[in-house]
Amino acid sequence: MASQKDIDRQIRAYYGGPDWDEGARLTSRSAQGSLEFVRTQELIAERIRAGSQIADIGGATGVHAAALADAGHEVTLLDPVSEQVEQARAYGTFEALVGDARGLPLEDRSVDVALLLGPLYHLSEREDRLRALREAIRVVRPGGWVFAAAIPRLARLAALSGGAGMPRGWEDLIEHGTSPAGGRFPGGHFHTGAELAAELNESGLLQVEVVGVEGPAGLAFEQLTEIDPELYSAALTVARAVAGQRGVQDLSNHLLAAGRRP
Ligand SMILES: C[S@@+](CC[C@H](N)C(=O)[O-])C[C@H]1O[C@@H](n2cnc3c(N)ncnc32)[C@H](O)[C@@H]1O
Repeated sequence: MASQKDIDRQIRAYYGGPDWDEGARLTSRSAQGSLEFVRTQELIAERIRAGSQIADIGGATGVHAAALADAGHEVTLLDPVSEQVEQARAYGTFEALVGDARGLPLEDRSVDVALLLGPLYHLSEREDRLRALREAIRVVRPGGWVFAAAIPRLARLAALSGGAGMPRGWEDLIEHGTSPAGGRFPGGHFHTGAELAAELNESGLLQVEVVGVEGPAGLAFEQLTEIDPELYSAALTVARAVAGQRGVQDLSNHLLAAGRRP
């Protein structure tokens, strides 16, 4: 298993290099990106107050942050990859800072909402994931929301099995969530829905809920760039209908957990 130091180095090369455009992932790369974006935004909007102060931790190039700022929220984006932070700043509608989820450069109780839409699946050790969650809790005011995204093990397995040959490490992935060697994505850990809920509960959050973001169509939508509007609308309807169902959650491309600071 790669050390966290190695994973962090790979993260900077992957997201900061010329071969990957994280902004395009949510907007134009596949139909899955659009499904992920729309569903994530609506799951957040259903829970938070108008005019919230939001820390978008692991916010990358700012696609979510820009939409939240346009919706009237005051957003501070943080990401460890300086190239992405530069790109995010270009929106000009929110603040963007270089920062790491394990040690946030933000004051205690300074925001209403903390988003961790990325950091957890890049942290291989449970202690580091709990540290990131506790940092998010620290900066959120009492009663405020913490949202955390994760990649289910089954979704990762499906993505890997689309490649040639049998990837090594399938058993460890399914049993322990360990990132298999090989492939470009610098994964740290892949969750089950139950495990993600347990981590949020252990970090001290209350009213923890976990939903599947894209539903069962997300995996197939990875392969589609053109979106047939009827198919897209059907996928969205199904994703909303089954978001809370346990088995289906783990077949979504992403899990989203939400909890409140006591
Ligand atoms: C797949 S991207 C997700 C971007 C965006 N939040 C979204 O939901 O589309 C994962 C992001 O997490 C960031 N990241 C990785 N490790 C992190 C850490 N320790 N602290 C904060 N962000 C981290 C990466 O730089 C990257 O921008």
